[in-house]
Parts: sequence; C-alpha cells; structure tokens
Amino acid sequence: MPNQLIVNEKLNNFKKKIIVSGDKSISIRWVLFSSLAEGVSKAKNLLISEDVLAAIEAVKKLGIKVILNKKECKIFGKGIDGYKYKKNLKIDAQNSGTLGRLILGLLVNSSNPITLVGDKSLSKRDFKRVSEPLSKFGAQFKLRNKSFLPLKIYGTSKLKPIKYFEKRGSAQCKSSIIFAAMRTDGTTKIKAKKSRNHTELLCKHLKLPIRIKKNKNFDEIEIKKVKKIHTLNYDIPSDISSSAFFIVLTALSKNSELVIRNVNINPSRIGIITILKKMGVKIIFKNRKIYKGEEKADLKILSAKDIKSINCPTKLNSGAIDEFLVIFLVAAKAKGVSYFKDLGELNQKESPRLKWAAKILKNLGIKTIATNNSIKIYGNPNLNLNFNKKIVIKNYMKDHRVFMTSLVAALSFGGKWILHDKDSINTSFPNFLKIIEDLKK
Ligand code: S3P
Repeated sequence: MPNQLIVNEKLNNFKKKIIVSGDKSISIRWVLFSSLAEGVSKAKNLLISEDVLAAIEAVKKLGIKVILNKKECKIFGKGIDGYKYKKNLKIDAQNSGTLGRLILGLLVNSSNPITLVGDKSLSKRDFKRVSEPLSKFGAQFKLRNKSFLPLKIYGTSKLKPIKYFEKRGSAQCKSSIIFAAMRTDGTTKIKAKKSRNHTELLCKHLKLPIRIKKNKNFDEIEIKKVKKIHTLNYDIPSDISSSAFFIVLTALSKNSELVIRNVNINPSRIGIITILKKMGVKIIFKNRKIYKGEEKADLKILSAKDIKSINCPTKLNSGAIDEFLVIFLVAAKAKGVSYFKDLGELNQKESPRLKWAAKILKNLGIKTIATNNSIKIYGNPNLNLNFNKKIVIKNYMKDHRVFMTSLVAALSFGGKWILHDKDSINTSFPNFLKIIEDLKK
C-alpha cells in the first residue's frame, strides 16, 4: 500500500540540529496581504504545502500574478482594490480553514457573487462563525444547511463598520473581520479573546490604521479603511506547530537532544512550551530575535526524565490549540492524572481531535475520561508497548496532525503501527517524514 506507513521501531539516542518548514499561519497571511499590496512582494522560506498552494491559487483566480520557485515566491499585487475576476468565480480553500475564513473577509466588497468550496474535511467545519459577523458589514451569504461549504458570498460596495465580540479565541474569525474592516469606511471595533496575533502584527508592520489595546483576557482592536498597502518582503520563520512533533519526540526519547533553528516564538503561539515546561520538560530558547514584530529563536530540547502531570490552565488553550494532540502524548507518560478542559474547539478542527486523542491514547493502553470539551489522562511513566501490538490508524479525515501525532507515539512508545493516508502531511508539513529519517541516521 503506497499511501501507508508501517512503523515498528522506537527512536532513541539522537543528537541533532534540524530546520522545520516555514510557519503556515504567516505564509497564508503573507500571500493574502501581498495580493493587496502595490507592487512586487517577495517571500523566502514560504511554506510550500497544500494549504499555502491553495492560497496562491486563490489569489491567482482573483487576477494576481504569482511566481513561485525553490528560492522564493513573488506576488505582483495590484493594490487594495486590484482583484479582477470572471463571473461565476469559484475559489477552492481545499483543507484550509485559515484560507477559507480569512479570504471571505477580503471578498465582502466583491461585485459578483463568488462560490467558496473546500475538501471533505473543510466542508464539515462551521463557516457560520464568519458569515454571521461578515453579513453585519452588509455582505450576504448562502451556506449549505446555513453553516457549511459550499457557500456563496454576495459582496456590496456599501459596507458599514461593525462592533464584533470574538468569544472563542479564534484567530481565523478575528482575522476575517480585520480584513473586512480594511475595506470598510469608518472604524470597526473588535473585542477578541486572546488568540494568535499574526494578522495584527502584519497590519502594524505595514503601518495600516489599526489600534490595539491589550487587556488581560481580551484585546480591543480598532481598524479603519485601508487605502494602500506597501509591498512586503518576508523571510518566514519556522513553524512552532510543526516543531511541536519534534519537541515531543525528543522529550519522550531516551538520551536525546535536539536543536530546532529559527522558530517563530510569538507569545500567542508558545502554549506548548509553557505547558511542557510545567510538566518538567527542558526547553531552552537561544538566539532570540525580533523580526517584523514577531519573535523567533533556536529551540533546544532535552529528553525528559520525570514527567509531571498537569491540570492545564485554560488560559493556555488558544496558544497551544494545534498542539494538544502531541501534548497529550506527554501526559500519557506523566506520573499522575492530567486534566485539559474547555477544549470543545478541538472537535472543530480538520477532524474531531479530542475524539481522536482518546482513540490514540486507548490504543496505547492509557485510561482517559473524555467529554465533549475535556479530557483526563491517566499517565503511565513506564509506558512501553510490545512490538507485536498492532495499531491501525485510518479514516481520520486525513487530518495531518492525527497522522504526525500517531507517528510520534509509535516512535516513542513502540508497537506495530499501520498508519493510513501518509500523504495527509502535505497540507502542512511535506518535509516531516524526511526529517524523521534524518534523525535515524
Ligand atoms: C489559525 C488559527 C487556529 C488554528 C489554525 C490556524 C490561523 O484556528 O487552529 O490551524 O492561522 O489563524 P482557529 O482560529 O479556528 O482557532
């Protein structure tokens, strides 16, 4: 079976330096901002994965020229009102919630209706969370069963600014509204539960009319109509979410040490570091730098000896939202019971991840108590599977993070794992298996 991976070995005793691929959130945002800039923007280390390629295809359909080669990506923006496209345009966000939700914000003023479609997984995810606030600007929407893709957006030239309260801690919802506000006369006011802030940092870096007041749990954002966006040359740092698999693999492997170079450590993204440090994992930041308002550093991770259980503070949820599956593997090896709560959003991702977490942990022989929004994990510090124990992972909506988490579990705890749909990694991290092979050398 060419699309299957069989894993029947553990990985220990490695001491390596690696580089993981570019940050997905920043890569998609770079494509969208550059498509609105006046002139040619260039990116280095853009993530070349299916989600980002879908973003490039989307802006091409909106009439924007893109040249992509191994060295760099160039986007020939035609200004904030530069999109030109045929009637009956259809944009395919494929697997990408970020692309699907963010681009809708930019289409609120389109003069012809545009259809947005996605793959099987994206078509199961909620789009009402963005169509509802975006319709307050004056755009109209038709969604399948009032919530899902395919949807049709009917833009308007008579946009009105809105007041919006983002309660989920969703950066996709917040960013979609910021994009619509950039097209709208007057001041849009957003109160948003803390979530990744790459969109706001790019707005600030580009000197767009945005004001942000940071409170303890919520940010207050005001944004006015944007007249011009300057070109944006960006050297994209590595993705902490892709790094997460290697951070956990190192922590769970014996006698190992790993340096991951040039990783984005935006404070709104490093929930995994805070959580794992609380659990006793040694992670050190080196060569910290600021780059275009973002922070980056080299990460050094050491094998963990005594892993402690955690009652995870919910304020860390949004900053670790894509990393919980691998974090749960660390909890599986902790001494004591770990508790993660208020995590209903995990079941809104590419697959219902809280459910998949419980399945993977059950396969490992770990007791869990899971509800719709929480999970208790009864750790076992001696967790070690017999290499004859067969575990099959399939029908998981090709969720890249389920695949990569399963592989880390296999290499850390043993067993004979048959992992279906290995091409799922192409959505976010096509290089993943190559780096795993490099660690074995
Ligand atoms: C993302 C935001 C998060 C995250 C996703 C990327 C982004 O989604 O899970 O992988 O780039 O804005 P939500 O905004 O739905 O939490």
